[in-house]
Amino acid sequence: MGNTTVLMSSPEYFKVEYSINPWMVEGVSVNLELAKQQWENLKTTIEQAGASVEVVPPHEQYPDLVFTANSGIINEDKVLIANFKFKERQGEEEIYSNWFSENGYSVSRIPSDFKFEGRGDAFVLDEYLVGSYGIRSDKEALLYIASEFGLKPKIVELADPKFYHLDTCFQQLPTENKDAIFYPKAFKDETLSEFADIFNLIPVSEDDANKLACNAVVINDTVIFPSEDIEVMEKVRELGLNAVSANVSEFLKSGGACQCLVITLK
Ligand code: ARG
Repeated sequence: MGNTTVLMSSPEYFKVEYSINPWMVEGVSVNLELAKQQWENLKTTIEQAGASVEVVPPHEQYPDLVFTANSGIINEDKVLIANFKFKERQGEEEIYSNWFSENGYSVSRIPSDFKFEGRGDAFVLDEYLVGSYGIRSDKEALLYIASEFGLKPKIVELADPKFYHLDTCFQQLPTENKDAIFYPKAFKDETLSEFADIFNLIPVSEDDANKLACNAVVINDTVIFPSEDIEVMEKVRELGLNAVSANVSEFLKSGGACQCLVITLK
């Protein structure tokens, strides 16, 4: 077991009241009681996999605050806070900024005209900044972050508004081989050649992609998928990993699943 710590935000005010991605159908009703149960179950599943969970208090005005993945990008004790594309989420920036400052992080901002949505679109892997641009985040933001953190950019362009963040269509698995699952059609370059030299790429089916199978959370050697009936789970087990599920169907109505609800702090 590693000593992973992740950040989540509780769903008391979660709902779908505006539409900023194709999953969000205005007027759709979210079963809040079920959403709360699903969120608690995901949290417990994460803890059982060996991680500690910290929680950012929810805010009535920001239903999408629950998707902490979008808060920023963390590199050891440094955080660069997101610059959200849509005004509906921009108020979250201050909430996350305050949380990270109060919790001992050195918090900075990237230039305000570069849009960037945190772990949704980028993460640090060894000497690389792995990221995607073209829908919610700008290429300039990723290049800026890579240079601030002294990392080599490994970045790709997204192609399909349904898969609007990297974490909706790509996830690295915790194997020595750096296996990663991805949905080819979500990318401008379906072969993902920019990633091929660091990852062993495993495509998922369209069916899996539409269940947000790639939005799985990795904790130590456990991979937590957003529902039970995902084909690629079998392949993940064959790699020697523990594939489990935590159904987050209410959050899919907002275009988010397990990984979106979490950001790894350490
Ligand atoms: N409704 C949210 C949005 O569209 C969902 C965010 C999901 N987060 C993620 N990391 N993919 O912004």
